[in-house]
Amino acid sequence: MDDDQASKRRFPMARAAGRPFDPAPELLRRAAEDPVSRVKLWDGGTPWLITRYEDVRTILADPRVSVDATHPGFPHTNAVSKARDTGMKTLMQMDAPEHTVQRRLLTPEFTVRKMAALRPRIQRIVDDLLDGMLDGPKPVDLVAAFALPVPSLVICELLGVPYTDRGFFQEVARTLVMDEPDPERALAASEELNAYLEELVLRKNAEPAEDLLSTLAIEQFRTGAMSPREIATLGQLLLVAGHDTTAGMIALGTAALLANPDQLDLVRDGDPARAAGAVEELLRYLSITHTEARRVAREDLEIGGRLIRAGEGIIAAKNTANRDPAAFPDPDTVDVRREARHHVAFGHGRHLCLGAPLARVELQVVYGTLFRRIPTLKAATPWEELPFDENAVFYTVRELPVTW
Ligand code: HEM
Repeated sequence: MDDDQASKRRFPMARAAGRPFDPAPELLRRAAEDPVSRVKLWDGGTPWLITRYEDVRTILADPRVSVDATHPGFPHTNAVSKARDTGMKTLMQMDAPEHTVQRRLLTPEFTVRKMAALRPRIQRIVDDLLDGMLDGPKPVDLVAAFALPVPSLVICELLGVPYTDRGFFQEVARTLVMDEPDPERALAASEELNAYLEELVLRKNAEPAEDLLSTLAIEQFRTGAMSPREIATLGQLLLVAGHDTTAGMIALGTAALLANPDQLDLVRDGDPARAAGAVEELLRYLSITHTEARRVAREDLEIGGRLIRAGEGIIAAKNTANRDPAAFPDPDTVDVRREARHHVAFGHGRHLCLGAPLARVELQVVYGTLFRRIPTLKAATPWEELPFDENAVFYTVRELPVTW
């Protein structure tokens, strides 16, 4: 195989220049012509890539696949992901029954009802940030001024982490989700964040407040069910998972709407139900967790007519599943009026995103407010110059200069 062919087979695959919102052309080609096929990873591994909607849902719901990142066949997408996922076992790396126990503990904290009750507070956070933006100079970077602080403030309040410490954990979160060449640095950063959270859990135990870390300190630490260390690890997962994902969706979703002004008009002039529809469609269209859902087969299984052997790695591509014409007619068009809620942007099966109800409320408030408060919002930089970030766990735009 020549170098060009090899690089095409390599996962993650590069997107096409000038098409920042679309999956890599090679991924789309596989979905159309070779829906269950092998790819090559940075470390020489050759896991299976599953690209079609039905197959992705089937595999993610199959109890014969595991998320055990320490299994030799587990597909790590780079050295940092390997160090992170094997170095710290969170909910995401647990199989049943261990996973079931921890998930059951957290599910009541993230119900649709509880998250809906946060809506007025989230609305105030969004309005305050937009007030600040409107009072400040133009153009402004929407990522720094808005997309990052919204989920940061929300997750800090929910967990009970002082927002004044955000500089520290935002930096750690970035180190963990970037394709950092130095896995040791990523692990050290994660260790530092865990130590900070452990100390915070002890403080919450001594002086509980109305927040999730206090609840876990009282219900889990005091009863001997979990150590401060275990609670800190859980806190770290929520802090990191709840932060860059939502920030990425705010930034990239806004960029996608600015690039599709007819759709932006529909969102700005529509009622709250339209904003909710736009959130689902943008989640589908952008599928920002582009390093995909990764698993390893525990037993031999068949999918899409192919036999996957026990011990082989599996990458379930939500990215192409969400562009599958069998599930979404005219999939490459962004259409905020479409019924898109069956997308797999939050995954599927037992590891379905725990924070989805929270992310949905945050994004609904953001898209329902941003264009209404700033109706003339527009990009201040030509598309070609925007720094789209392919090297992180989440695909997004690092800076989005806007004006109005
Ligand atoms: C899991 C996406 C926001 C917490 C996942 C998974 C996806 C995902 C695809 C499944 C991974 C897999 O199957 O391997 C997203 C997106 C978000 C978002 C696109 C924003 C737009 C959040 C928020 C939180 C959160 C706000 C928490 C506050 C989690 C947790 C898991 C998870 C704890 C692990 C669940 C488990 O393994 O049982 N997320 N997420 N996420 N997410 Fe999210």
